[in-house]
Amino acid sequence: MKLFDVYPRWQIEPVRAQGCKIYDKDGTEYLDFYGGHAVISIGHSHPKYVEAITNQLNKIGFYSNSVRNSLQDEYAEKLGQLSGYSDYSLFMVNSGAEANENALKLASFHNGRKKILAFRHAFHGRTFAAVKVTDIPAYLAPINEGLPVNFIPFNDIEAVRKVLQQNDVSSVIIEGIQGIGGIRTPEPIFLQELHKVCAETGTVLIVDEIQSGYGRSGKFFAHQYADIRPDIITIAKGMGNGFPVSGVLISPAFKAVSGQLGTTFGGNHLACAAANAVIDVIREENLVENAAKVGAYLIEELKKIARIKEVRGHGLMIGLEFEEPIKPMRDKLLSEEKVFTGVTGAHVFRLLPPLCVSKEEVDEFLKRFKKVIV
Ligand SMILES: Cc1ncc(COP(=O)(O)O)c(C=O)c1O
Repeated sequence: MKLFDVYPRWQIEPVRAQGCKIYDKDGTEYLDFYGGHAVISIGHSHPKYVEAITNQLNKIGFYSNSVRNSLQDEYAEKLGQLSGYSDYSLFMVNSGAEANENALKLASFHNGRKKILAFRHAFHGRTFAAVKVTDIPAYLAPINEGLPVNFIPFNDIEAVRKVLQQNDVSSVIIEGIQGIGGIRTPEPIFLQELHKVCAETGTVLIVDEIQSGYGRSGKFFAHQYADIRPDIITIAKGMGNGFPVSGVLISPAFKAVSGQLGTTFGGNHLACAAANAVIDVIREENLVENAAKVGAYLIEELKKIARIKEVRGHGLMIGLEFEEPIKPMRDKLLSEEKVFTGVTGAHVFRLLPPLCVSKEEVDEFLKRFKKVIV
């Protein structure tokens, strides 16, 4: 059997990784400023993480959600404390798209409405509803027709008001910082007004923090720069540091109805062991503060580079827009300078290093980056 060939891939195979470094089978070392697509939060192969998953596997790796699993309660308690959402409830699933799928469904169960409002350049995943609120028509199959979604410009509050004024929209879904759309940050005043209009019209506000959350922005959630409390928040990526686990954080205004949501794998023992270890390390090693501090330094240094047209983002979620296509620079950065970076579109680098990245590693990155952009 062959693999279904849907991914353009680099011809590099990492076989080992540690902290912010990745190694191929020949022992070549790479600096990871991509984080496997914003997934690596506490760093590759963190000893506490490895130990927690190994220990758990030696006890029990999986049982279904038909029995009690106190690891889930332990995780919910820790997440509530660190994120500032102790009064919210948690529903655990396995991937980002699945978290958004459940968030959109929950909103619709809650207010009985069908319409959804999303934003231009949004990305929310590939499952049925998640792909429909993603602004990339090429990802839609004919079966995705039928779910009414309005796409409006980012940061345009008047356009939001116009759509919501009929009081018939179920939910608005917005990324804490748009990732695949090019690292676009919503203005705090826009998020505050959006929150207000949603409350006035009975519309559920869902903030997708799958890429921008879990400390990456320098706050636990990027929307906390605007000081709002959404009705639903979705999380994934950094939550498991590579273990597939995701979650939906749900405001106390929502009633849990038995059977309405469900999952086989979500919140299993191994996933909880991973998530508990990650959140412990984030707290113990002050990684949110590190993302804020090291990220601010990196952004400041990048802003001094005249070749870069625009530097965008917060913390360790950074977009670098160039006038010209970046592919030759990115290829050279990887093949000659041994640095992994992310990309969005043809002109924007996306930097998403692990939250534990040090100032020294940032300086090393800058040195190598400057060599390829001259
Ligand atoms: C903001 C955002 N939402 C949702 C997703 C989908 O996550 P997954 O690929 O785990 O389904 C992604 C993935 O890149 C994302 O960046």
